[in-house]
Amino acid sequence: MKRKIAVIGAGVIGLTAALKIQKEYGENIVVTIYTADKSPNTTGDVAAGLWAPHLVQDTPEDKILKWAKETQDFFWKLWKDGYALDAGISLQPVVNLLCDDTSIPKWSTIAIGCNEIKGKELERFKNDHKIPYTGGFTFTSFTCESTKFLPFLENIFINNGGQIKIKKIENFSQLKDYDVIINCTGIYSKILMSDNSVKAIRGQILRVEASWQFHTVIDDSDDGCYIIPNANCVILGGTHQLDDEDTKPRIEDATRIIKGCKQMIPSLHEAKVLRHQAGLRPGRDQIRLELTTINLGNKLVPVIHNYGHGGSGVTLCYGCAGEVVDLVKIALTKSKL
Ligand SMILES: Cc1cc2nc3c(=O)[nH]c(=O)nc-3n(C[C@H](O)[C@H](O)[C@H](O)COP(=O)(O)OP(=O)(O)OC[C@H]3O[C@@H](n4cnc5c(N)ncnc54)[C@H](O)[C@@H]3O)c2cc1C
Ligand SMILES: *[C@@H]1O[C@H](CO)[C@@H](O)[C@H](O)[C@H]1NC(C)=O
Ligand SMILES: *[C@@H]1O[C@H](CO)[C@@H](O)[C@H](O)[C@H]1NC(C)=O
Ligand SMILES: *[C@@H]1O[C@H](CO)[C@@H](O)[C@H](O)[C@H]1NC(C)=O
Repeated sequence: MKRKIAVIGAGVIGLTAALKIQKEYGENIVVTIYTADKSPNTTGDVAAGLWAPHLVQDTPEDKILKWAKETQDFFWKLWKDGYALDAGISLQPVVNLLCDDTSIPKWSTIAIGCNEIKGKELERFKNDHKIPYTGGFTFTSFTCESTKFLPFLENIFINNGGQIKIKKIENFSQLKDYDVIINCTGIYSKILMSDNSVKAIRGQILRVEASWQFHTVIDDSDDGCYIIPNANCVILGGTHQLDDEDTKPRIEDATRIIKGCKQMIPSLHEAKVLRHQAGLRPGRDQIRLELTTINLGNKLVPVIHNYGHGGSGVTLCYGCAGEVVDLVKIALTKSKL
């Protein structure tokens, strides 16, 4: 008999996990996704989708590096195989500026073509932006647009024989017939299921028309702004308001973002605003990626948790999916005994 796996959530985390399981097990397993919402209504659909680990709190650095590298390789493969348009993937230069003597993060060692910004070049950015930067680095990175990437993954998943059911899971006993349950509920794990270790990190952005802007600029200071081009728009951000669950865009945030971005790239005063958006990053002290079991009607069912990716869900998705596959193997081996 085929083994049955249920994935809860069709955000970037749930979809990549579901696909990776299919890829590993092929015909031997049936994967069903249960989700309350799908693209274009997930958290990732608000994101700028830049590959760059960000707001991951105390998740161990070696894990971040591993998961980020595997995801970068995945984007690279899609890019190389000719799926840039379909999957919404672009490759572009990034200028990441630092304030308050913040050091260059460890993950820069796996970023493509990373160089430190110093000396005259740093002075130029300080003068141009009128911001007292203390350092910075440049690299080349992928942006991955969820509004294209998620439907792209959904199609592959369905072509592989997977099913997506639009259904909010209120009680896990609804899934008691499955051999393994994968919990990829993002911030909703807090709102719908009261995991109080998950805290919203609210992010507000604007999507603007600025066809001349071809590179990302990030001011990494506390209330710094960022400019990230996607294929058909440019994202201006942002905010990271802890424990704030308001998904309505606010005028005061938008005003601050526009002012900060124009200070860095003055020509943005010409940019037409297409859309204001706010989303909730699933913040947690650490990403939760572990195997547990739950008792559902006298049956112990393995549950793999995969949530709390903060500001890096896109950056880490494929690496985390690989770890889910490892845990599925352990779960299925145990349940056979
Ligand atoms: C403004 C902003 C900018 C960002 N920029 C970046 C960036 O540049 N790079 C980057 O890597 N990350 C970025 N992020 C973070 C990234 O978007 C998130 O980390 C990521 O989207 C989280 O994905 P997820 O699948 O865990 O959650 P979600 O996308 O929230 O998906 C959760 C899914 O679970 C479903 N669900 C929840 N509860 C239930 C239930 N009870 N029953 C059924 N279904 C349920 C939901 O319907 C949804 O489909 C940004 C986020 C924001 C808000
Ligand atoms: C997304 O949300 C909008 C507005 O609530 C809704 O009309 C639409 O059906 C949703 N789309 C999906 C795919 O869930
Ligand atoms: C979930 O459903 C089971 C079985 O129907 C029930 O015993 C349990 O109380 C329910 N749990 C919650 C939190 O509603
Ligand atoms: C799924 O994750 C949420 C959030 O942490 C948690 O409350 C819920 O109990 C988990 N589900 C199971 C079956 O363990």
